[in-house]
Amino acid sequence: MRWDGDALLMLDQRRLPRHVEWLRLSRWTEVRDAISDMAVRGAPAIGIAAAYGMALAARQGAGERDEADRGLRHSRPTAVNLFWALDRMQRVEPWTFERALEEAQTIEEEDRAMNYAIGRHGAELVPPGAGILTICNTGGLATAEHGTALGIIRTAYARDPSIRVFSCETRPRLQGLRLTAWELMQDGIPFHSIPDGSAATLMREGKVQFVVAGADRIAANGDTANKIGTYSLAVLAQAHGIPFVVAAPSSTIDGTLPNGEGIPIEHRSGTEITEIEGVPIAPEGCPTWNPAFDVTPGELIAAIVTESGVHRPPFALG
Ligand code: MRU
Repeated sequence: MRWDGDALLMLDQRRLPRHVEWLRLSRWTEVRDAISDMAVRGAPAIGIAAAYGMALAARQGAGERDEADRGLRHSRPTAVNLFWALDRMQRVEPWTFERALEEAQTIEEEDRAMNYAIGRHGAELVPPGAGILTICNTGGLATAEHGTALGIIRTAYARDPSIRVFSCETRPRLQGLRLTAWELMQDGIPFHSIPDGSAATLMREGKVQFVVAGADRIAANGDTANKIGTYSLAVLAQAHGIPFVVAAPSSTIDGTLPNGEGIPIEHRSGTEITEIEGVPIAPEGCPTWNPAFDVTPGELIAAIVTESGVHRPPFALG
């Protein structure tokens, strides 16, 4: 994302990697739609986008504040960074465009700094020459810059170029195959994209020594909502004696929830499963079940890395 005078420029993640297209958003409703339709995605990036959406609302007029706040809160339910950023924007006084924009830019700057800190803390946990398995996209596209889980991988690679990365393709929206692969190729970090269902075999063959995932919402006891499929990786990691680590800024911690039971899980359209790029591939009328996230119990998590350091179980966050 980039602020450009009177509008928010946003790289359209739905079009990547084959098309690099920027959206120019000048109304908060356009930001809301970009979030719900996943032109921007990834917990921290959603929060940053929402903050800029509020700045656009301030520019549109003081009367838009409450409606924009409500509208943006309904854009996606699971990533708590969205609500965290909107709460911060609610505290901005006086409510002027300049102050709102300044706060949005501060939120983005802070996220950038948090990611580099997460990278430094998390890289300490990566065994020398490790095979690292990750899921979804947690890089610069999902954050202000550098990334959370991918930030750890980036920092670890800078210290130890012998590490190897395996990136789950991440059905159904393929954030791993389309976005993480794109980021890793730009950095020249060696990796393989894998089908989600091959993770167990990869571990059994001894190719994985470290699993790292991002998060959309972390409850006080460490229960962690993240992209669907993350829970499976945590179970598999435990079965194979491999550490499973979560990386997220403190803006992803929801201390109001004692455990993961209260985390709202987004269910998305079945067409994400039955169609590929708008082309139907399933029998017509095929029933679907499409939760976008799952919750990994804190007991399966070896460490949660935030900007403040490495948290070990039993977790008491927030
Ligand atoms: O549905 P998405 O693509 O927004 O889901 C994103 C994830 O689950 C990420 O792993 C998470 O938000 C962390 S991004 C640093």
